[in-house]
Amino acid sequence: MKILVTGAEGMLGSALVRRLRSAGVGGPGPGNAAALAVAGVDLPDGDLADPATAPALLVRHTPDWVVHCAAWTDVDGAEARYAEALAANGAATAHLARACGAAGCGLTYVSTDYVFDGRGRGGDPTEGYDEDDPLSPVNAYGRTKAAGEDATRAMRGSWQIVRTSWLFGDGRVNFVKTIRRLLAERETLQVVDDQRGCPTYAEDLADVLARLVSGRHRGIFHATNRGACTWHELAQATAAAVGADPDRITPCGSGQYPRPAARPACSILRSRRLEEAGCPPRPAWRDAVAHYIARLESGQVAHP
Ligand SMILES: NC(=O)c1ccc[n+]([C@@H]2O[C@H](COP(=O)([O-])OP(=O)(O)OC[C@H]3O[C@@H](n4cnc5c(N)ncnc54)[C@H](OP(=O)(O)O)[C@@H]3O)[C@@H](O)[C@H]2O)c1
Repeated sequence: MKILVTGAEGMLGSALVRRLRSAGVGGPGPGNAAALAVAGVDLPDGDLADPATAPALLVRHTPDWVVHCAAWTDVDGAEARYAEALAANGAATAHLARACGAAGCGLTYVSTDYVFDGRGRGGDPTEGYDEDDPLSPVNAYGRTKAAGEDATRAMRGSWQIVRTSWLFGDGRVNFVKTIRRLLAERETLQVVDDQRGCPTYAEDLADVLARLVSGRHRGIFHATNRGACTWHELAQATAAAVGADPDRITPCGSGQYPRPAARPACSILRSRRLEEAGCPPRPAWRDAVAHYIARLESGQVAHP
């Protein structure tokens, strides 16, 4: 099976390329790593918002499946530059889906909790969303990612939509890394405690994607680390993992930190389909944070 990963220089795409090139995806059998060939592309290989890029990449790499990790990920920037964000997330995915359909190649589209209304099931912010809950994004970025989902669903052939949330891992910026840096610079920090979500370690998500793709599963999946928390709890867990006193981080409300893009109170994704597809349980989010911090501290990561 030949797999093409878009956004291969990004946080998730780079983890996925590493994962697919490592041994043992899905255990022995027809979908195992020995049978996988992996290529990664990113912006220097072509802007996917240009309709000519996706067909050319498919001709060059002849994949059986494309995992589309490339995206506009600047949530606040998407408010002011909506047309560019929509081109990168909506139109680019539509071009890719059409090209994959025409080439008889499968497509995995990585999406986000931001496609939901953020109030939580029945208005309860502790109750997360199921795979088939209706989309109702609260900000521009969420609307562009929902447009990418629509384009994927309209595709002829095999597709997967894999929604994730609160990603951290080897990359230029992420919340866990920022808190670790701020703890070294300041005595105390305030972090919001009125938004809940499921932190997700890119390495663990890459493992799920590798299994879903090599198993050629179809449909919508929710993939995060196990458990949910607030940003404040995630910051405190980060402090604990670096050996700092978690009480140096105090809670506050989102009203104290107004941002250009509205943030959902509830970003919790409930996963049923991964279990049905035979994926083993993901590590608990606290263990994933501890694992990432240990790798950061040992200097093993690409962007320490
Ligand atoms: N980060 C999160 O917390 C989060 C949460 C939920 C879902 N997601 C989703 O997870 C996926 C991976 O996110 P990530 O954080 O790994 O993203 P990332 O680190 O920002 O990587 C995205 C990559 O895509 C490239 N790219 C952007 N526009 C492109 C275009 N038009 N054509 C070709 N390549 C393009 C970027 O290049 P440049 O860097 O040069 O622009 C970058 O290398 C995305 O679909 C995102 O929406 C992320």
